[in-house]
Amino acid sequence: MAALGPVRYHAPMIRTAILGLGSYVPDRVVTNDELRFLDDKHERQAEPTINTDDAWIQQRTGIRERRYVMPGVATSDLAVQAATRALADAGCAATDIDCIIVGTLSPDIFFPGVGVFLQRKLGIADKTSCPCYDIRQQCSAFLYGLQMADAFIKSGMYKRVLLVGAEIHSHSMDYSTRGRDVTALFGDGAGAMVLGPAPTDDPRSGVIYTKVHADGTGAENLYIKIFDIAKAPYLAYDTRDREVNKDIYPQMDGKRVYVRAVREMNLATQRALAETGFTWDDIDWFVPHQANLRINEQVAALAKIPAEKCLHTIQFYGNTTAATVPLTIDHWRQAGKVKKGDRVLSTVFGSGFTWGAAIFTV
Ligand code: UT7
Repeated sequence: MAALGPVRYHAPMIRTAILGLGSYVPDRVVTNDELRFLDDKHERQAEPTINTDDAWIQQRTGIRERRYVMPGVATSDLAVQAATRALADAGCAATDIDCIIVGTLSPDIFFPGVGVFLQRKLGIADKTSCPCYDIRQQCSAFLYGLQMADAFIKSGMYKRVLLVGAEIHSHSMDYSTRGRDVTALFGDGAGAMVLGPAPTDDPRSGVIYTKVHADGTGAENLYIKIFDIAKAPYLAYDTRDREVNKDIYPQMDGKRVYVRAVREMNLATQRALAETGFTWDDIDWFVPHQANLRINEQVAALAKIPAEKCLHTIQFYGNTTAATVPLTIDHWRQAGKVKKGDRVLSTVFGSGFTWGAAIFTV
């Protein structure tokens, strides 16, 4: 009797599709002019609190205004709004979700992470027991999360992944001239996607390409410390004393971050095209992380991206960190520019340093 040869089992290749998209920004608009007068409670003072001006902020960053939450609103509240819109867009019930991934640098509390609060606010905590991941890659978190979601779906592990980027920056900014380099940049907002197996195996649609990177030598170029776990006690200052409380606010070496962001976002973009074989003719929209309009314009010039394909929202929302990518796509979809099935090349860069690029259809 002839020996049986090795049994080969080829699992059918699962591809990932973006089934739904949603975003949310709070109603309160804070213009550059108003920002100058705000105190720690976001109340307008008679005299300027920050030595800055609209012309400086617009010229150096492109930002005109940003959104701020009202007191009492948490990051998971923004996340649930964006998630609910993405679920409706996907035609899914919250109970269909079998995995939640949230990217944020501004969790509701230190632990547990925002994912479980989001699960609870979606009303599925006691119904699905779906796993909740919190990821900490700051401005790059959405593309890191997209890669995770894609891998989970391709492996057959989960069938409906809810991926959310949500941030409240307004509560942790330094409303004094000391913090003006950072305070001028950031705003509050959230964006979400529902991902699942694609109905087709077309390699030119769905999540086509993801690549993410990190370089820890840049960790102290953009960070917020708050505490130092190597010390006892781990909070060693009076948070109310403005002379000594610098550690509770973000610190940034803006120039270093800027230069590295231009370099890595350009290289990641060019690599994404080279590795997929796409050209700009195949890409409908370029959606870079929204940290500074000048960074994005330099990346677009270096990577020879047609100006009409570049999407920005930094003018209206500032930098919403983990939320910028889905928020920008959804903003322009609502404006009628981005259409179902359009192909997007996105690149991000942020604290860590972390960065990456992805190509997907929406
Ligand atoms: O999401 C990823 C993270 N963030 C980024 O990607 C941000 C990257 N960096 C940047 O976007 C830019 O470096 C900034 C917008 C933060 C700063 O722009 P810049 O052209 O690099 O300005 P600079 O840091 O060289 O500062 C020039 C001057 C300084 O004053 P002196 O020392 O020359 O007197 C700053 O103190 O501008 C001052 N300055 C401001 N003035 C008015 C810094 N921030 C402000 C402000 N308003 N908000």
